[in-house]
Amino acid sequence: MIDIHSHILPGLDDGPESMTSAVEMARKAVEQGITGMIATPHHQNGTYENHYEDILAAVHRFEDELRAHKIDLHIAPGQEVRLYGNIVADAAHSQLITLNQTNHLLIELPSDHVPSYTARYLYELQLQGIKPVIAHPERNREIAADSSKLYELIKNGALAQVTASSVAGRFGRNVKKLSMQLIEHELVHFVASDTHNNTNRPNELAKSFDVIEKEFGMGAVYTLKENAEILVSGGSVYAGPPSRIKKKKILGLF
Ligand SMILES: [Fe+2]
Repeated sequence: MIDIHSHILPGLDDGPESMTSAVEMARKAVEQGITGMIATPHHQNGTYENHYEDILAAVHRFEDELRAHKIDLHIAPGQEVRLYGNIVADAAHSQLITLNQTNHLLIELPSDHVPSYTARYLYELQLQGIKPVIAHPERNREIAADSSKLYELIKNGALAQVTASSVAGRFGRNVKKLSMQLIEHELVHFVASDTHNNTNRPNELAKSFDVIEKEFGMGAVYTLKENAEILVSGGSVYAGPPSRIKKKKILGLF
């Protein structure tokens, strides 16, 4: 099992502060069957900037530490990049780290809205051959209120990643319900932990796949797991045609 979104590198962002905690997070990942994780420290989110060379160095240090602890987990470099003014130019000048240095870039929207320039930036990234992967759309307030905002972006070629803990119910019933709808309507293509620590933001990837299996069967689990494997190995992820989530009409009121 591959986890494409995690804050596991120590001391870079709001992930673990110490190497010891990071190693414990790796243990929790391996226990549930994860063999590879992409480390995606925050970048340009207003608080953290984590640049290319620093992330690569941190990944190498962490892998050495895991080897010393005999923990069989591969760590690949990545970044969770907030959509910002220079994202297209910086991507063009190889200033950003795509997921495992493939052509997929993990992009975070602000939590409260979808900026008006989102569609244009995601389109321009694709013109450069970069596939945007929108991180946890189910946690964006504007998308939660109107999922057609996400539908338009996916229809125009973006991919999206739902967070395992959203599926597992950690962020409440509404987020869980929306997450399941996004999976059902092919509006998300990956499940990833977005783990920050072992306490309040643990890795719940295996748990989320249990929930998905109960709801949609093994086929859905297989596809979602396979997409992460295809991504990490540099392939193109097949995205089925997305569909709109229909709002339920309240009958008899008007
Ligand atoms: Fe994240």
